[in-house]
Amino acid sequence: MDISNLIEEMTTPIHDFLVKNSESHTIRCYMPGHKGTEDPLDITEIDGADSLYDTDTNGGKGIIAQSEKNASKLFGSKRTLYSCSGSTLAIQTMLTLAKLRGNGKDHVIAGRYSHRSFINSCVLLGLIPSWVYPEEYLCAAVTPESIEAKINSRTLAVFINSIDYYGGMSNISAIAEVCHSHGIPLLVDNAHGAYLKFAPVDLHPMTLGADMCADSAHKTLPVLTGGAYLHIANEKYCAMAKEAMALTATSSPSYLILDSLDRCNRTIAEKPFHIAEICNKVTALKRHCADMGYVLSQSDYMKVTFDCAAVHSTGFAMAEMLKEFGIECEYADEYRCVLLFGSGSTDVDFETIKTVLRANTPRSVFVRDLPSPPVHIRTQTACSPAKAYFSGKVRLPVMMTVGKVCAGAVAPCPPGIPLIMPGEVVTIDAARALRDKGIADIPIVV
Ligand SMILES: Cc1ncc(COP(=O)(O)O)c(C=O)c1O
Repeated sequence: MDISNLIEEMTTPIHDFLVKNSESHTIRCYMPGHKGTEDPLDITEIDGADSLYDTDTNGGKGIIAQSEKNASKLFGSKRTLYSCSGSTLAIQTMLTLAKLRGNGKDHVIAGRYSHRSFINSCVLLGLIPSWVYPEEYLCAAVTPESIEAKINSRTLAVFINSIDYYGGMSNISAIAEVCHSHGIPLLVDNAHGAYLKFAPVDLHPMTLGADMCADSAHKTLPVLTGGAYLHIANEKYCAMAKEAMALTATSSPSYLILDSLDRCNRTIAEKPFHIAEICNKVTALKRHCADMGYVLSQSDYMKVTFDCAAVHSTGFAMAEMLKEFGIECEYADEYRCVLLFGSGSTDVDFETIKTVLRANTPRSVFVRDLPSPPVHIRTQTACSPAKAYFSGKVRLPVMMTVGKVCAGAVAPCPPGIPLIMPGEVVTIDAARALRDKGIADIPIVV
């Protein structure tokens, strides 16, 4: 799709309304209490402002409905909904929609290193995860074969995270083919990949065959924190989508976030190659890093992921070194360090990073004692996530929980990927892994 052809259509109805309202001299006898003094564009659902979850009942002609249609056009979806509560709300919504159309089925096949918003949605909706293990700890990429092997008569949906925190991606087209051959929807947590639609090669899940997908616009596009999309490709989920989103969402979505989502449509259409250019600059930086002797893990266009263990170091040491030179990374752990770029990254950023890396060869982040390699935590499931979560519970010091049933998702953040899930039995390996991540106590079913 040539986005530049869409420039005329990419109006900014939300922004235009907010600006006009801010320039009017009406007395604000409506929420919020700051009456425009904090930010004149920050309003509530006044006359003409539409209402995020009622765009359909407002006749589909309001400013939010129009803006969402613009986003839908850009992303090539059947329908796109804005979320002011991140991908977290979009993930809850897509699982709600799957359940609404799921004829009583309740199993969701999911990659084990899914974000906690997935398991929390399972708790809320009474769904049961059926885990597929990626090859490596914390990587999310799962194979179509491993998914197909798990499909049974209770399978409601397949849920995968692609792109993951390290920048790993799954073969979405092949997984979509497997899902569709069994009549099962594929739901993709694309929180890190909203930009993929505009990358040098369009690898967005909507393009590759996902039925629904959650994008954190705020992670890589010029959108305020909290702004996200729920994209829907499958018509059967469209009609109930707003109602499903309203189930767990705030009834006061931020117009400042809606404004930035609205303007993002225009920005993308005005500079149709900007995102691809940033991606190319990240690719060039990766080449420089490799030339300088850094070892990189394979990652998506917007991430540079240093495999620090490969050069006898840790992600923490690398992050510390970068911080000393004024570079704050997105994520670091014992093994890797991740730099995340986005639509706002500048040439000065790229040049500075290159200079710092050149002046600090991998040898400068050598560490004496490397941590042991990561292991998968595999354990038995004692009960469903919802049953465990809503049972009576206490918090216990982590090393006293071995053999007991975990009552919540325990996830260091970032990356927000639970090490142990509600309903799972805590093993000695799990307890040690939690302790090593600095987690002192965890909720246990009593
Ligand atoms: C893989 C993944 N999925 C979902 C989310 C939730 O996204 P949001 O913060 O937009 O709610 C995150 C947040 O970091 C994430 O990393």
